[in-house]
Amino acid sequence: MLQVEQVNQYYGSSHTLRGVSLSVAKGECLALLGRNGVGKTTLLKCLTGVLPVARGSVRWNGSDITRLKPHRRAARGIAYVPQGRDIFARLTVEENLLMGMATLSGREAARISGEVYELFPVLKEMLGRRGGDLSGGQQQQLAIARALLARPQLIILDEPTEGIQPSIIKDIERVIRLLRERGDIGILLCEQYFDFARALADKFVVLSRGEVVASGTAGEMDGEHVRRHLAV
Ligand SMILES: Nc1ncnc2c1ncn2[C@@H]1O[C@H](COP(=O)(O)OP(=O)(O)OP(=O)(O)O)[C@@H](O)[C@H]1O
Ligand SMILES: [Mg+2]
Repeated sequence: MLQVEQVNQYYGSSHTLRGVSLSVAKGECLALLGRNGVGKTTLLKCLTGVLPVARGSVRWNGSDITRLKPHRRAARGIAYVPQGRDIFARLTVEENLLMGMATLSGREAARISGEVYELFPVLKEMLGRRGGDLSGGQQQQLAIARALLARPQLIILDEPTEGIQPSIIKDIERVIRLLRERGDIGILLCEQYFDFARALADKFVVLSRGEVVASGTAGEMDGEHVRRHLAV
């Protein structure tokens, strides 16, 4: 579904991504691992179109989307849950969710929002509360729910466990596992929490200073060469 070939990106003169390649197939969860500042978020922004790619290509279901605008990528089924969540703090939970459903018909919206409330029962209890008044973990759940309401074929999650309490991490893990088991969506999971990523991933890539330094199947994630690039 998603095919990234030799992507290079610069902030001014600093060469942030150096020939990064990876792919995500339908039904598959790819873990993108790496320490602080190695270029994970930069890469995700290149995939969603928020940042331009200097060289290399991003292909989606066979067509080249390297220069496509972010809203067009979203319309083609690529959803993004940004690092730090970026929910609308002054809107209610319900209004935040409605933003995710903007492109759906009324009947579709009713069916899909039912599905999403099943995944995140806590949100249904808090529809009238302002987004900014939720806990960090609840905001993360809201951000994931909002992304799922757009019926994506690929969901990109940027460090969903960052700064979140263990009980909610478990809830988020359960939801990502359910999505994976459903098999109709690709998942690109950017993480520094190794055990969380290992529990969910089918395969992985490790970035270090903007380069892919290790990659493989879930079974190969425990290797010494992988941990070396993650330990602080
Ligand atoms: N807008 C920007 N302008 C200039 N440099 C930037 C910008 N955003 C990020 N950088 C730099 O690019 C590098 C990669 O940053 P990026 O945010 O992609 O890392 P990351 O792997 O997501 O890190 P973290 O795990 O802390 O989120 C870092 O050195 C960072 O300081
Ligand atoms: Mg980041």
